[in-house]
Amino acid sequence: MFSKFKRTNSNNPDENELDLNNIPKHIAIIMDGNGRWAQRKHLPRVAGHREGMQTVKKITIAASDLGVKVLSLYAFSTENWKRPNDEVNYLMQLPIRFFQTFVPDLIKNNVRVMVMGDITRLPEGTQKAVHDAINQTADCTGMVLNFALNYGGRIEIVDAAKQASQLVTDGKLTVDQIDEALLASLMMTSPLGDFEDPELLIRTSGEQRISNFMLWQLAYSEFVFVDEHWPDFDSDSLSNAIKIYQGRHRRFGGLETK
Ligand code: IPE
Ligand code: IPE
Ligand code: MG
Repeated sequence: MFSKFKRTNSNNPDENELDLNNIPKHIAIIMDGNGRWAQRKHLPRVAGHREGMQTVKKITIAASDLGVKVLSLYAFSTENWKRPNDEVNYLMQLPIRFFQTFVPDLIKNNVRVMVMGDITRLPEGTQKAVHDAINQTADCTGMVLNFALNYGGRIEIVDAAKQASQLVTDGKLTVDQIDEALLASLMMTSPLGDFEDPELLIRTSGEQRISNFMLWQLAYSEFVFVDEHWPDFDSDSLSNAIKIYQGRHRRFGGLETK
């Protein structure tokens, strides 16, 4: 007998059905390939970012509909400042456009906006758009849409270490009290409570690296790399990635429980 749901480690999930009882609660996505998508169409790189913004809208709704609790999206890394000014400026304007057009849909879908990263370095208009969106969706109780903006995993860990050191210096903590739970509480994901660590990380565009994203939180996440560029990623791509996740054997260093 074939079971309805066949377990596989392959990236070929087509024969599987999506198990709605096993949807990852926290999905993190490295949205990559906007520039190459545009270049392939002989368009400027920023056209890829504009199209990528539409994908963010579609995937947000798709994830929320699937019952995902947290969707973390890598939108701008601490290393992305190295790009040409024009591109950086365009990327800084995108959140303004995104929230201007999308906040009503977020509210309709009960999605709450959260941000991780040092947004004080963003232009004022961008900071305002982000704060407005956080405030406007503050009462939403469904999925959390968590944008990583000027975010870096290493600086996040450095900042947590600094905060822990300060607590020791101030006599509020002993060195022995610094443990994983304490550091987790100092990470930018701590407001997410039980959902702080993603079960699934997806990266688009064929690159197979983590590029300084959520280094602490991804310790035991399943990684799914897809070849599509971000603007081509759609709800079927999301379902496929989740099917691949559902075929994985998660052991957390132990032995499989059957
Ligand atoms: C991802 O697409 C978006 C950001 C990093 C802001 P890229 O801009 O990295 O696109 P590629 O990887 O150059 O194609
Ligand atoms: C990672 O993509 C950052 C974001 C998606 C925001 P990059 O395109 O910046 O990463 P690298 O340079 O290929 O590692
Ligand atoms: Mg890239």
